[in-house]
Amino acid sequence: MHLTLWATHEKQQHALACQQQLKQLGVITALQMIEKINPKHLRQHPELALVLDENGLNLAASGMKMQPDWIGQIARLKRASHKNELIARACQTEQQPVLIDATAGLGHDGLLLAWLGARVTLIERHPVLFALLQDAYQCAMQHSELTETMQRVQLVHDEASNYLTQLQQHNSIVDVVYLDPMFPKGGHKDQKKQALVKKEMQILHQLLPEHGTMDLGEYLLPLAQQLAGRVIVKRPRHAPTLSSAVPQHQWIGDACRFDGYFQPGLQ
Ligand SMILES: C[S@@+](CC[C@H](N)C(=O)[O-])C[C@H]1O[C@@H](n2cnc3c(N)ncnc32)[C@H](O)[C@@H]1O
Repeated sequence: MHLTLWATHEKQQHALACQQQLKQLGVITALQMIEKINPKHLRQHPELALVLDENGLNLAASGMKMQPDWIGQIARLKRASHKNELIARACQTEQQPVLIDATAGLGHDGLLLAWLGARVTLIERHPVLFALLQDAYQCAMQHSELTETMQRVQLVHDEASNYLTQLQQHNSIVDVVYLDPMFPKGGHKDQKKQALVKKEMQILHQLLPEHGTMDLGEYLLPLAQQLAGRVIVKRPRHAPTLSSAVPQHQWIGDACRFDGYFQPGLQ
C-alpha cells in the first residue's frame, strides 16, 4: 500500500519514525513536509493520505481528517461508569475481565473498557489503522490521566481469526471477546441515522472499501464462542444479528445495541 504522509516541519523526527513503523507494517509512504496542515490544505488534497500534526497521526480524505483521539475521549471516560455505559454492563467491566477486542478500529470502545478496569487486547488487521492505534497509544502513555489505563492495553496487529485460533490451540480462555465488525454503508434502516454516519466512519469506509463482498466478520462469532464465556457483539440498533445467531441477551441503546452470547461451560 502506498500513501502520502503530510507532516509539519516541527514534526520531522516523529514523521520519520512513523514512516519507519509504517514500512514495517507494509505501508510505503511518500513524506511531504509543509508549513501548516489546515482545513484548506485538506480540501486541496482530498485523496486518502496520512497527516501528522500537533495532535499526532491522522488519516485524511475528502477534506476531513480523523484519528483514534484517545486524549479527546478523556471527558467521556470521566463520565463513564459500569452502570451508565451499556457496553460496560454488557462486558461486565466491574469484574475487571480479561477481554479481547477483536475488531479494534479506532480503539475507542476498547479504551473505555480498559478505563473501567478490563485488561484489553486490541486486535486490528489493517496496517494503517494499526499504525494510527500505535501512535494513539504512545500519545496516551505520555498523558498523566491515561498512563494507568495504558498498563491494561495491549495492541496486536493480526487477523483476529488467526489470533483467536492460536489462543484456542493453546487451550487459552478469556473472560470476554468483544466484536464490532464493519457494517455495510447502506445497512442502516433509518435513513436519517444513515446520513449522520460519523466522519470517522466515512473516512474508514474509504480505507476499507466495499469491493463486492465486504468482510462482515460472520466467522468471528463461532470462534469467539469457543474461547470466551461471554461474547459481546456491537450492532447498529436495527441490524440483523451477526451470523444470524440468536443472542441470549441484548442491551439496546439509541443508535446501537450489544448482543450477548454466553457459554456457561467457559465461565
Ligand atoms: C467498526 S470498526 C470498530 C470500531 C471500534 N469498535 C471503535 O471503537 O473504534 C471495525 C474494525 O475492525 C477491523 N476488523 C474487521 N474484521 C477484522 C478481523 N477479522 N481481524 C482484525 N480486525 C478486523 C477493521 O479493520 C476495522 O478497523
